[in-house]
Amino acid sequence: MKALRGMKDIAFEEAKKYLYFLDIASNIAKNYGFSYVETPILEETSLFKRSVGNSSDIVNKEMYQFIDKGGHDVCLRPEGTAGVVRFFISNKLDRVQQKYKFFYYGPMFRYERPQKGRFREFHQFGCESFGEASVLEDYTIIEMIDAILKKLNIAYTLEINSLGCNECMPSYKERLVNFLEDKKEKLCQDCQRRITTNPIRTLDCKNNDCKTILQEAPKLPEYLCNNCKKDFELLQKLLKENNITFTINPKLVRGLDYYNKSAFEFVSNELGAQGAIAGGGRYDKLVEYLGGRATPAVGFAIGIERIIDLIKLPNEPREGFYFGAMNDEGVEKLLPLVKEIRKNKKAILEYTPKKLKAHLKAADKVNAKYCVFIGEDELQNDTLWLKDLEQKEEKILTTQEFLQMLK
Ligand code: HAM
Repeated sequence: MKALRGMKDIAFEEAKKYLYFLDIASNIAKNYGFSYVETPILEETSLFKRSVGNSSDIVNKEMYQFIDKGGHDVCLRPEGTAGVVRFFISNKLDRVQQKYKFFYYGPMFRYERPQKGRFREFHQFGCESFGEASVLEDYTIIEMIDAILKKLNIAYTLEINSLGCNECMPSYKERLVNFLEDKKEKLCQDCQRRITTNPIRTLDCKNNDCKTILQEAPKLPEYLCNNCKKDFELLQKLLKENNITFTINPKLVRGLDYYNKSAFEFVSNELGAQGAIAGGGRYDKLVEYLGGRATPAVGFAIGIERIIDLIKLPNEPREGFYFGAMNDEGVEKLLPLVKEIRKNKKAILEYTPKKLKAHLKAADKVNAKYCVFIGEDELQNDTLWLKDLEQKEEKILTTQEFLQMLK
C-alpha cells in the first residue's frame, strides 16, 4: 500500500530537518511575542469560501470538501489564517482592546496537481498578528522570516507589493477592468472569467499570451492613495535600513483574496518551479468580514516541505549512552541503570547479547557518546566497562562510581 498521491511520510533525515526547523521557527516566533495556537484541521467549508475567496483556485478547484455524517459541509483546511481568524472571533478576542499574536504549524490540504515541491498534503508554519495597524508590524513580520531563514542559512529573494485599501483599490480595479475589456478576446479563458470575478488575479496569470498583454496593464503601486503610498514607502525604507534586500513586483497579488496593503513572497531559486518558500501580508478586513469587530491584522506562512529541501543540518555531536552485554544475565543487570539514566539523558539498551566489538560498532552507528558493556569479568566483579567514544578513553567502574560520574 502507498500513501495517497501528493501525500508523503516524513521520516529519518527529513523528520530531523522538520523538528530542527520547528525548533528554530518557534523560538524566533516566541522571541517576537507570538504564542502557540492549534486550531482544528477540519472546518466549515463556508469559512474558506468567505475568507480565501470564492473566485480563488484554492476554493474553486482544490478543496478537500465533503458532507459529514451530520450533513455538515466541511473541508480540510487549505491554509491556516482562516482557522486562526475564526478562533480569534469565536473567543471574542476582537472585543478586547489588546494586541494578540499567534503562531501555529501543521498539515494543510490542497487538491493540486502534484509535482516537485507541490503536495496535496503539506505543512505550514505561520504567524498571525491581530490589532496592530502600524506598517512597522508588516516590516517586523518580514524581519522575522528573514531571521528564520538566516538562522537556517537559506538564501532567498523577497518580492513585495501593496494591494491598496478600500479607498484606492476600487478605482485601480476599474482602470484594470477597462484595460482588460479592450484585450478580452486575446486573454485566456480563466482571465476572461476573472474580469468579472476577480480582475487583479489576471496580473499573475501564468499563460504566456496573458503575461505579454498584461505587461502594459496599469501598475498597482502607481494608483495607491496617500495613506497606502506613505506606508508602502516606509516599509521599503525600513527594509533598506535593515539590509533586507527586496524587489517591488507590481504583479504580486497572491492566490488568496483577503489581502490589502502589504503583500510579500520569499522565493528560493534552488527549488525550480515551486520556489515560493513563504508568503503573507496584511488582511485588515477579514476579521470584520467573518463577523468580528474590525481588527487590523498581518501574517505569513512558510512551506515546511520546501524548507526541508533547503536545510543542511549541522553535524550532530555524539549524544547519550549505548548499553550492551555479553550474555542475558548482563543485559538484565543493565536494565535498572538504563532506567536511571533515561530520567535525564538518552540511553539505548541492546537486548541481544553480543561480543564487545559488535556493541562498539552499534554504539558508533547510533552516534552515542559512551558505550557501556558488561562482559564476563564485569559480571564476576560487579563492574561496568565504559568507553568515551569521543575522547577514546576506557574505564572500569562500579555501578556506584558510574552513577556518581553521571552527576
Ligand atoms: P500561501 O502563499 O498560499 O499563503 O502558502 C504559504 C506557503 O505554503 C507557500 O509559500 C509555499 O511555501 C507553501 N505551499 C503552498 N501550497 C503548497 C503545496 N501545494 N505544496 C507544498 N507547499 C505549499 C497562505 O497559505 C497564507 N495563509 C499565508 C498567510 C498567513 N497570509 C497571512 N497570514
